[in-house]
Amino acid sequence: MNWLEIYKQKLTTAEDAVKNIKSGDRVVVGHAAGTPELLLEKMVENKEAYHDVEIVHQVAMGKSLYCLPENRPHFVHNSMFVGATSRQAVREGRSFYTPVNNNDLPYLFIDNILPVDVVLCMLSRPDEHGYCSFGISVDYTKPAAECAKIVIAEVTPHMPRVMGDTFIHVSEIDYIVECDTKPTILNPPTITAIDEAIGGYCAELINDGDCLQLGIGAVPDSVLHFLTHKKDLGIHTEMFSDGVVDLVEQGVVTCSKKNFHPKKMVAGFFMGTEKLYKFINNNIFVEAYPFTYVNSPEIIAKNDNMVSINSALQVDFTGQVASDTIGYLQYSGSGGQLDFVRGAKKSKNGRSILAFSSTAAGGKISRIVSHLDEGASVCTDRMDVHYIITEYGIANLKGKSVIERAKALINIAHPDFRADLKQDLKRLYHNM
Ligand code: COA
Repeated sequence: MNWLEIYKQKLTTAEDAVKNIKSGDRVVVGHAAGTPELLLEKMVENKEAYHDVEIVHQVAMGKSLYCLPENRPHFVHNSMFVGATSRQAVREGRSFYTPVNNNDLPYLFIDNILPVDVVLCMLSRPDEHGYCSFGISVDYTKPAAECAKIVIAEVTPHMPRVMGDTFIHVSEIDYIVECDTKPTILNPPTITAIDEAIGGYCAELINDGDCLQLGIGAVPDSVLHFLTHKKDLGIHTEMFSDGVVDLVEQGVVTCSKKNFHPKKMVAGFFMGTEKLYKFINNNIFVEAYPFTYVNSPEIIAKNDNMVSINSALQVDFTGQVASDTIGYLQYSGSGGQLDFVRGAKKSKNGRSILAFSSTAAGGKISRIVSHLDEGASVCTDRMDVHYIITEYGIANLKGKSVIERAKALINIAHPDFRADLKQDLKRLYHNM
């Protein structure tokens, strides 16, 4: 049978496809902008047919209706990265958070620690050989599909076909729903004066020919706007957004100095506007790989001059960084931060940067503190931390004692908090 016949045999409607989910199943949902919203909508409409279906998902950008209180008997949400639409559910106990580095996440499925019953995903249309691409969401979605008992896919002309390890043959999909859904759009952030100052300091640490990773949040995205005077930058990143495309168009990102995957931009997933999704479609300059590969610290470290740029919520005097919790509140997730901090650390001439505004809550709270809030968890530990940047400067913590770290951090704290922080340092660390 040729692939087209196989494809046609598997075609069904979204309403019928979700009837294959059973009570108690673990359903892994395609990530971020590639979330299959049509299938999720039909699954929630069919909720009376299920109880305790476990929905495993990272960044949720759609409505996340399965998180609503009235849907709890039917669904429980296992959030691997808390987002705007799941934060309330986590806070109220309808959803739970599982800590995991992104490099390790697919192995929870592959190693049967969290066996996968069903994968719901969004795919590109098949090519002339019958292969669909996971496009903008390769990350954990492709590995989960490879070990799921049932794969249900929305196939849409709007999902880009991306090079790299992104393909699945139609024979490996169980139910195919043709539709016209579009990947979710994430508009570029508005850049504030604080972001500009932070971007300027990050740019000071980035040399021509460096290979960059850019994390999630306003700061990493805005850093790209301050690199327009650089030359021959490379990209090996988990998340890839519109700012990178602008730098390619300006001739700044060429990947010509990359020693690993030379002349290729390497990523795990894509979140941005239609401009980004058009740019990556069939573009041999762009390759996507699962987290098992792209987030592996050993793989990251094969890039010389690797610079990782991520954000955080709080750092203490010793250099412990809380990036995904505010006290006991699970705000986001560790994602790939530690994977890239460690990969950059092992790269020849590598550097990791954690950049954030010096204050939160409209200037009322210092993000540089003597000790982390009760309940906060460490994402980047003090043994791995390297550069911390705020709008007041750069603190290089590598190889520094606790006292030197505290002093360097106080220097880049907001001036309103420096006197209190100095008092804390004296009180807690033997009058230093
Ligand atoms: N105490 C209390 N509230 C704080 C705080 C603190 N120490 N730090 C930040 N906040 C508040 C902010 O005021 C803001 O509140 P608002 O939305 O009411 O204004 C909110 O928390 C978010 O902070 P912000 O710095 O604006 O977040 P962001 O959207 O830029 O994202 C992270 C920053 C750290 C949450 C995000 O980068 C993240 O989740 N990182 C961890 C994972 C990661 O790095 N992955 C990288 C590989 S993709």
